[in-house]
Amino acid sequence: MITGATRVAALIGSPVRHSLSPAMHNAGFQSLGLDWVYTAFHVHEGDAQRALDAMRVLGLGGMSVTMPHKQAVAEAVDLLDPAAAALHSVNTVVPHTDGRLLGHNTDGDGFVASLAAAGVQVVGRSFGIVGAGGAARAIVDAVARAGAAQVVVVNRTAERAHEAAALAGACGRVGSVADLGSVEVVVNATSVGMGSQELPFDPRVLRRDQVVADIVYHPRRTALLAEAAVVGAATVDGLGMLVHQAALQQRLWTGRDPDIAAMAQAAERELAARRQ
Ligand code: ATR
Repeated sequence: MITGATRVAALIGSPVRHSLSPAMHNAGFQSLGLDWVYTAFHVHEGDAQRALDAMRVLGLGGMSVTMPHKQAVAEAVDLLDPAAAALHSVNTVVPHTDGRLLGHNTDGDGFVASLAAAGVQVVGRSFGIVGAGGAARAIVDAVARAGAAQVVVVNRTAERAHEAAALAGACGRVGSVADLGSVEVVVNATSVGMGSQELPFDPRVLRRDQVVADIVYHPRRTALLAEAAVVGAATVDGLGMLVHQAALQQRLWTGRDPDIAAMAQAAERELAARRQ
């Protein structure tokens, strides 16, 4: 039951109509028995500041931020956490009791949490990250902070690869597809394979003693993960990152840890409904 006491959290972005976030977050709030509801607002590019003003005026309990507002929100909030500051990108806004809005970025930590949930350690491991966009940068930053020994960034556009590798500090460098054969964990952090059978790189470089993770979650078993499984590598699909970054948002807003499985089921139900 939604009442006058119900707290509201919301996503801002453009587009938001097909976002999985409302289904996931409402399942999370329900799992905690919290009187919270989550919805999505279509906010046009250039209106991020006004959306934050609305958040203050309406007393929203939390905000998620997606394209095209992540950078603009990073400029407009009162304080940034280390990840959001390094990335100049905010995916989570938390209202502080003193009225300030705090900007966080849970994308990279969500990825690291999804690896942990799959039994994959980050500390001391070598990573090959394919891509240098927002998601890739968040992952480079997070695995480096989580103690990765080496982070090799492989990207179509070299200049962006250098910028992304710099986020990992001394353990970061730019590499080529051939280098993916000699790291322990390979990550596709591009959108290649989303809704298609495309491969982000030639999978013949993969080996059976590697872990191969994909941030693409639709289809869950991407062409890359299928090829990795054929080689005998362990695979981690992209639904985990999606769910864990959302669960970390709920922890920031409510101080509680929602049921990951319930959130994943809600996301899967939404994806299945879409396929019909
Ligand atoms: P996001 O912020 O969602 O991560 P993005 O900033 O558009 O998305 O970045 C997408 C990433 O996928 C980039 O690394 C992009 O490579 P470039 O930097 O060279 O543009 C990569 N990418 C997208 N389509 C690709 C393709 N067909 N082949 C190789 N890389 C691709």
